[in-house]
Amino acid sequence: MLKSLRFRLNGKLVEIEGREEQPVLDWLREEAGLTGTREGCREGDCGACLALLGRRNLEGTGIEWVSAATCLLALGELDGRALVTVEGLAGEGPTPVMKALHVENASQCGFCSPGVAVALSHFLLAEGPRDEAAAVASVEGNLCRCTGYASIGRAARALSSDFSGLPLDFPTRLAALAARGVIPPALAATMQDLPEPASAGGPGGSPPLGGSPPLGGSPPLGGGTDWYVRNTDPAPGLSPRFVGRDPELRFIETRGSGEGATVALGAGVTVADFFASKAVRAIAPGIERFEVLVASPHIRARATLAGNVANASPVADLTAMLLALDARLVLSGASGARELPLADFFLGYKKTALDGDAIIETILLPAAPRAFSFEKAARRERLDIAAVNTALSLAVDSGGAMRGVIVSAGGVGPVPLRLRKAAAALEGRKPSVAAFREAMLAARDEVAPISDVRGSAEFRKRVLGRLLAAHALRLFPGAFTAEELLA
Ligand SMILES: Cc1cc2nc3c(=O)[nH]c(=O)nc-3n(C[C@H](O)[C@H](O)[C@H](O)COP(=O)(O)OP(=O)(O)OC[C@H]3O[C@@H](n4cnc5c(N)ncnc54)[C@H](O)[C@@H]3O)c2cc1C
Ligand code: FES
Ligand code: FES
Repeated sequence: MLKSLRFRLNGKLVEIEGREEQPVLDWLREEAGLTGTREGCREGDCGACLALLGRRNLEGTGIEWVSAATCLLALGELDGRALVTVEGLAGEGPTPVMKALHVENASQCGFCSPGVAVALSHFLLAEGPRDEAAAVASVEGNLCRCTGYASIGRAARALSSDFSGLPLDFPTRLAALAARGVIPPALAATMQDLPEPASAGGPGGSPPLGGSPPLGGSPPLGGGTDWYVRNTDPAPGLSPRFVGRDPELRFIETRGSGEGATVALGAGVTVADFFASKAVRAIAPGIERFEVLVASPHIRARATLAGNVANASPVADLTAMLLALDARLVLSGASGARELPLADFFLGYKKTALDGDAIIETILLPAAPRAFSFEKAARRERLDIAAVNTALSLAVDSGGAMRGVIVSAGGVGPVPLRLRKAAAALEGRKPSVAAFREAMLAARDEVAPISDVRGSAEFRKRVLGRLLAAHALRLFPGAFTAEELLA
């Protein structure tokens, strides 16, 4: 649907009547004449279309810049925000990032190079470690058909060492990057604030709940990282509700105290926010180690938890984690709000308890700390969808018995499952080979997978058992061996 939009593009204010549902990639290439942003896969996999997106940070205290796949980004998402493309970075000529790619022969046909340059520029711009591992991880969402990656890895490592002393504080770091030509100084001067949005609904801009839906429909959008893969060319007339853009819905807060305390995650909370959150890490110590198993950095920066749940994929990774953390959902629409356990949200394959205009507004997690483990079997370790995934959480009482055991599993039925029989086999028992072997057998009995391209039904059952054994080994190191569990 045509909407007034106001945003900054490569430092300059843009005010347009734009199709809010149109992928930014198409607008950049076809209407703004910025063809440096390339179209590769059009489904978030290749990173050729990356640009930098400036938005308010989670705390609402300042601006953060993330790399974003513009094939999965609605033009309407830009209202009140800022975008920098590879042309904006280049300014008058090649930057140190582009020179590093050149020096290391990391560009051959060059198709992927703008996206790689954006990802590495983001690595220098963003908060976080600046070591070699982080540099290489920053290009995990970029595919290259020519170079074999070694040269891109060398360029990434060279940049991490050349820029090792960058200041931590954002304004000073931005100034340092401008002084060294990573970002043109005139552009850097515009990167610390955002323009006022044109939409009447404020920075969120989502139409109020209720009201008449526009012609073409009004799907809620978190990051669009599932929705745009299924709707690569959305019909003109759609008017998405930009749930993920609404700062009011991007919050992580602890509510209540004592045993009833919960951590509330708003619908705008991204996968990256979740793993970075101190409150989430306090509930499930070590959970951040599983972040790399989910998508790529640029997807995690925009994908929301609520979108992962609402999409109702049987193999959604965050959903498996949230199930094991005993999550509850607050669904909210024109007729009011209601709360239900996440396990009751899934009614059948891709069928959920969402009705009418309701959205998942909040995800609630009990705040009490739990031991937590997540496992995912996929063809590739990184950037792949699971064939089977599972999470397990529990507490251990003063006598050493497992309490409050929750086991989840995906890819073994039409919906993400909470495995109650497997959990019952562990509940109240001390960790032992016998207890975990019973849980593995119980899990096999309570799932009914289908065979498809990612694996046969029997394969999935066997893999689930092995992943439960992996939970046992992670949660109770030294207590038993893989051979004992799998004998
Ligand atoms: C390259 C790539 C790799 C991926 N890898 C993984 C992976 O490893 N693991 C994994 O689990 N997923 C993966 N995904 C899938 C996707 O990124 C996640 O499911 C993500 O969390 C979806 O969130 P979103 O905000 O982008 O959802 P969206 O695309 O915005 O929405 C998904 C669906 O939910 C609805 N919706 C969104 N928000 C709400 C809400 N608040 N209330 C009600 N309905 C809502 C939308 O209308 C839509 O139908 C990957 C996707 C891509 C493109
Ligand atoms: S075109 Fe491949 S990620 Fe967008
Ligand atoms: S250089 Fe050709 S795809 Fe990367």
